[in-house]
Amino acid sequence: MTTVTFAHITDLHVGAPGMQDDHLYADTTANLRAVLADIAAMDPAPSFVVASGDLTNHGEPEAYEVLKALMAEAGLSMPVLYTLGNHDRRDGFHRVMHGRTEGLDQPVDHAAVIDGVHVILVDTSVPGRVGGHFEPGQLDRLAAELAAHPGVPKLLVMHHAPALDADHPDLEWESLSFADTELLRALLDGRRDVLGILSGHIHYDRVSHWHGIPVVVGIGQHAATDPLRLASEFRMLAGASFVVGTVRPSGLSVTFVPQPSDRRELKSAPIAALTALIRQYEAAAAE
Ligand SMILES: [Fe+2]
Repeated sequence: MTTVTFAHITDLHVGAPGMQDDHLYADTTANLRAVLADIAAMDPAPSFVVASGDLTNHGEPEAYEVLKALMAEAGLSMPVLYTLGNHDRRDGFHRVMHGRTEGLDQPVDHAAVIDGVHVILVDTSVPGRVGGHFEPGQLDRLAAELAAHPGVPKLLVMHHAPALDADHPDLEWESLSFADTELLRALLDGRRDVLGILSGHIHYDRVSHWHGIPVVVGIGQHAATDPLRLASEFRMLAGASFVVGTVRPSGLSVTFVPQPSDRRELKSAPIAALTALIRQYEAAAAE
């Protein structure tokens, strides 16, 4: 294969126009517009763009309309492949982005081979939950997809990265669930054709070596979690980035492209308070 370049955006958190939103901390429309302009100007041009979820802040159709318009305005010449995060809504996405009228509750799972890279997107969002989970059938479909196109290197894209801290059950909401992380590990065990996993959700740039597979997380285009306070405080700063990935015969490399930032504090809360809030939200959603 030749060298392939791609762009990875995440956590766009596009808002609905005119809506009062106390959970939108930045001008995500402006941030996305700037990032898309950067991508349009890339040299070499990327072969594809992946967007790993939290495309909108609350999942309203109006927010997906804004996303669709921003994408059209950017006029990118390469395919843009989406999956969803916990802030999205499947019905809004399916209706607006693809004009679907049926199967509106289906996860946004799909795959494509582009310039010799097999890109596999798995929707780890679950309505009413903050952390990531697989639904029945998703892992089987992923296994079948992994078996397709033998010899073609594979990139997995999913909003929630595998869990790294199974000894911290309070923080399971930050990742794919511990149980599903283990199932994914078993599924990928021994494979040498998985270039990496591209994720978001935690809003800081991070590369992990997870059982031999690189897991890449970007800040995204909304706000940046302060990486200096991770243990005790959920502190959001002004900041954004996106990822430029390069696939060579030797494997994957990634470069984070920072956007202008003054690291101004946007919001702060103790991690324990945030965890309690998430539990309340999930309990209410389950009723
Ligand atoms: Fe997010």
